[in-house]
Amino acid sequence: MSDQHSFHSFETRAIHAGNTADPLTGAVVPPIYQVSTYKQDGVGGLRGGYEYSRSANPTRTALEENLAAIEGGRRGLAFASGLAAEDCLLRTLLRPGDHVVIPNDAYGGTFRLFAKVVERWGVDFSVADTSDPAAVRSSVTDRTKVIWVETPSNPLLGITDIAAVADIARTAGAKLVVDNTFASPYLQQPIALGADVVVHSLTKYMGGHSDVVGGGLIAADAELGEELAYHQNAMGAVAGPFDAWLVLRGIKTLPVRMDRHSENATRVAEMLTSHPKVTQVLYPGLPEHPGHEIAAKQMRAFGGMVSFRVQGGEQAAVEVCNRAKLFTLGESLGGVESLIEHPGRMTHASVVGSALEVPADLVRLSVGIEAADDLLADLQQALG
Ligand SMILES: Cc1ncc(COP(=O)(O)O)c(C=O)c1O
Repeated sequence: MSDQHSFHSFETRAIHAGNTADPLTGAVVPPIYQVSTYKQDGVGGLRGGYEYSRSANPTRTALEENLAAIEGGRRGLAFASGLAAEDCLLRTLLRPGDHVVIPNDAYGGTFRLFAKVVERWGVDFSVADTSDPAAVRSSVTDRTKVIWVETPSNPLLGITDIAAVADIARTAGAKLVVDNTFASPYLQQPIALGADVVVHSLTKYMGGHSDVVGGGLIAADAELGEELAYHQNAMGAVAGPFDAWLVLRGIKTLPVRMDRHSENATRVAEMLTSHPKVTQVLYPGLPEHPGHEIAAKQMRAFGGMVSFRVQGGEQAAVEVCNRAKLFTLGESLGGVESLIEHPGRMTHASVVGSALEVPADLVRLSVGIEAADDLLADLQQALG
């Protein structure tokens, strides 16, 4: 790992880790090494340690070093998508006969990976309310190898006490995996709280501009990091150089963006709380949120995601989404522009009928970094 790993402040690491000046030209931003293979000086004579870009590519290495540094882990790895990262992780950690505890509220695609893919390998899972450590403890069996946590969760913004679940995982001899996509490492440091592996959809806040799909794994431990790196190459779903470069660029502004996302989301959540057509607001920054105290303990601020339920059921929720103008109707999240969606019919359609089904009257917002007053005005007109 580079010297920059040792910088104390997050903001400095976000900008400098992995970002060494190009040795050939002095370019202050790592070039996009859009290349598949590398000239060897005689058989086996590698110039910079690179032989083939699935195994390693300098632009991807820059991002992977940065990821490790900003999450406080020993090894970072970049993949073609968040789900590609999850797939590699699960195939590394699990064997037939193993058991996994997964949250009752999580990204629908993560649940689909467990329920439709991983289960077919002979791995079974229990769905638990991970915001309740006692529920996690009682779901653990002597075959449990992984406890999976997403906090804040997608789309209900549930909060799990990472340190408490890390204790349970340690006692059970299981690995604790934390999906840190909603918080980002600027707001929350799962490895410092006891996680073994952090997962990211880099598509979201890390990229930050809705222009790239990518995934990340950060291992707390060098040995597991090495095993994951071996599997990353063996399975092959790596991030391409341009995608890695876009994420590396996005991360430089992550702290300022997350501060602004959090400020705007707080304004939005407060307005929605007093709106007569809104029956419930789910935002961990609100004092009445059941996870507020834990969130305040383990997060620097509460992030940019807000969900709310509207009077009038599914149709009313869909109409709010359709009427929004500045909030763009679309899936995904974490970009500078605000998005609105109906999880039941969009991002979480794959969990309908399962233990993870979401309320039909739920609307999810990814609050961007536009002027807060403009965002409030748009939501007020959408609510009618
Ligand atoms: C919390 C969370 N984890 C993982 C993923 C999957 O990431 P990707 O879409 O990059 O494959 C998503 C995607 O929405 C997500 O929201």
